Amino acid sequence: MDTPVPKNAEDEARALAAAEAHHASMLHRLDALTAALTHAVKTGDKVAEHDAHAVLVEWCESELIPHALAEEGPLYGGPGAAVEARLLVAGMLAEHRAVAGLVERLRAAQGVDAAVAAGAIGEIFALHLEKENNLLMPFIVASDEFSLADAVAGLPDLVGEAHIHGTHGTGPAPLRTNG
Ligand SMILES: [Fe+2]
Ligand SMILES: [Fe+2]
Repeated sequence: MDTPVPKNAEDEARALAAAEAHHASMLHRLDALTAALTHAVKTGDKVAEHDAHAVLVEWCESELIPHALAEEGPLYGGPGAAVEARLLVAGMLAEHRAVAGLVERLRAAQGVDAAVAAGAIGEIFALHLEKENNLLMPFIVASDEFSLADAVAGLPDLVGEAHIHGTHGTGPAPLRTNG
């Protein structure tokens, strides 16, 4: 583990930018879906609530949970064994478990309970993203042992399709439309 990994600073910066942009698009989508559910609950619109709940649960199952699981091996594995980062990674894994538990609660909930669960998912996810963007990934980029570009290579759940297919420009990736 003492041998530095060969890596390219531009590739590392591009991977970091893509991962941050993907996080931003996920949070934007989660906020929009939560706002739709909350509005429906507030206005007592049962049909809209049913639809918004179904869309949000589906998004959590198809985007949010797969994103977390995809991180746990390639992104968390190396730093999770490094003395400087293992406590951070342990805390972040606990947040993944907390979010997964809240998704289960959301799935079973209705009305105000569902809106509360959705809001809690958003708050935890936002805090979690800050740690990933500002602590964990910069640690990987700066380390001699790990490469962020290698960690996210071929994983659209971590960086979005645009980065994988090389269609990204210098700016943030466009928001994903999740159907
Ligand atoms: Fe994460
Ligand atoms: Fe993430």
